[in-house]
Formats: sequence, structure tokens, C-alpha cells
Amino acid sequence: MQIHTSIDSLRAARRAAGKVAFVPTMGNLHDGHIDLVRQAAEKADSVIASIFVNRLQFGPSEDFNSYPRTLAADGERLEAAGVAHVFAPDEKVMYPEPQHYHIDPAPAQIGILEGEFRPGHFRGVATVVLKLLNIVQPDIALFGKKDYQQLMVLRNMVRQLAIPVEVLPGETVRADDGLALSSRNGYLSPEERAEAPRLYRQLVRVCEAVRRGDHDFLKLETESVAELAAHGWKPDYIAVRRRADLQPPMHADDPLVVLAAAKLGRTRLIDNLEI
Ligand code: PAJ
Repeated sequence: MQIHTSIDSLRAARRAAGKVAFVPTMGNLHDGHIDLVRQAAEKADSVIASIFVNRLQFGPSEDFNSYPRTLAADGERLEAAGVAHVFAPDEKVMYPEPQHYHIDPAPAQIGILEGEFRPGHFRGVATVVLKLLNIVQPDIALFGKKDYQQLMVLRNMVRQLAIPVEVLPGETVRADDGLALSSRNGYLSPEERAEAPRLYRQLVRVCEAVRRGDHDFLKLETESVAELAAHGWKPDYIAVRRRADLQPPMHADDPLVVLAAAKLGRTRLIDNLEI
């Protein structure tokens, strides 16, 4: 496995790599990332992964500075998973000058859910992902459903801008108690870690109620918010939405997903479950 810190070096390697599947990450890798790598390896000749903590997608009071950076351990995990090339640029390589050109996702998609609570987040994500796709020029790119709205925004960007890449989704990988794996889980104290699966349990509860035919979404959402708040959480939202565009359900046969974001102590966790 080769680690490339410059665009030229990565591009030269890419030209010899055949059909490429690409897994962009911010590092501090866990089994969710590795599952995307495993899926990528099944679809292509070579897997390229990137590790870059993208300042553009963090708000001014968010955790850019404290985001865990564990390059040595990440490299070992990627090598063991069969990755051929890692692109691990530093900030001067990705943003050698202030980034003046950005991708602005559709307001309808970024004014809701994560976009409402993290202004500018998806603009930063879309901009860095387009830049990474231009650098790596993969045939396939994989993104996890754990970040459901991110996956939707990126799919739409690729379609609307005719970017020549196939986007494939990966299922959310969870701990045994249901907590979705996340680099941010490392911020949780032992007590918070024990409490954290309540978020997933609420998603399961809403999901099962809807499947049983309870379509009073507002009641279900409000109950879950209250349940989390009663256990010390600060919920941002719990919302039953259409899978296709994450807008409120309109028709009885809309495929649905329930999405949640809530703070436990200083850690903000997100999760979702397709209904
Ligand atoms: P990061 O949070 O490192 O996630 C990298 C990829 O792993 C994303 O596609 C994410 O959805 C996926 N992922 C995270 N947790 C997962 C889990 N428990 N199960 C399955 N997949 C999971 O998402 C980002 O980085 C950044 O926004 C990025 C796309 C790299 C742009 O900077």
C-alpha cells in the first residue's frame, strides 16, 4: 500500500490502478469505514481511500481542532483491508490558496435536518468531495447511509453535474448494543457510552410503530424527543421523512426513513433507520 501526500503522486498511481473504487474519509477509522472498503474491493481492481479532515465542513464552534487524527493506525487498518493507495494530503495540498469556488447544494436539501443545524456543512462536504473526485477520478465512490443526508446531497451533485462516477451506498455498521459506529463516539465518557444506544432504540421504536400502521409521525417524533430529553439528551430533531428527498411524507406508499440528531454531553450524535 502506498500513501500519497501530493496530488501528482496520487494521480500517477491512479493511472496504473485500473478500475478504481474510492472511499473518502476523515480518518480515525472504524469498522464502518472498513466495511465500505470491503465493498469497494468487490467492485473494482483497486481501492483508493482518502484521509483528510476537511476544515470547510466544520462550523466555527465545532470540533475541527479536536477531531481525532490517527494516521498511523488508519494506515495499518487500510493496508490490512486491501487498500492499494491512500491519499492523505495536508491542508496546504488541498487548499493551497483560500477556496473561493464552492458547490452550493439545493436550498431545499440543505435547509433541513443536518443542514439546518450545521449551516455551511454540506457546502463544505460537496466542495471537498468534488475536489477529491477530480483528483482521484474513480469509477465508483462509496458513501455510508450513516450520513443519510450527505449521501443524498452527493448523489444529487453527481447526477446534476454529470460527474462520471457511480455512487454506491454502504449500510450502517453498529456496535452490538445498536450504537452506530462513529469517530465521534470516542468523545463519550463511559457513562455516556452506556446511555448512547438510546438514540438507536428510539429510532427502532418509531420504525416499528410506523410499520404497525401508526402514521401519527408528529406524535412519534415528539415522544422520542421527550424520552431522550428525560435522559439528559439535547435532541436537535427526530424526523420521519421520505427517503427520496428527506421531505415530510406526502403519500401513504412513500418509502420512509427516520433520522435523528441529539447531543449527549458535548458530543453530537446522528443516526437513522430506513422504515
Ligand atoms: P467520515 O465521517 O470519516 O465518514 C467517511 C465515510 O464513512 C462516509 O461515507 C460515512 O457515511 C461512512 N460511515 C461513517 N460511519 C459509518 C458507519 N457506522 N457505518 C457505515 N458507514 C459509515 O463523511 C465524511 O467522513 C466526510 O463528510 C467526507 C465524505 C469524507 C468528506 O469530508
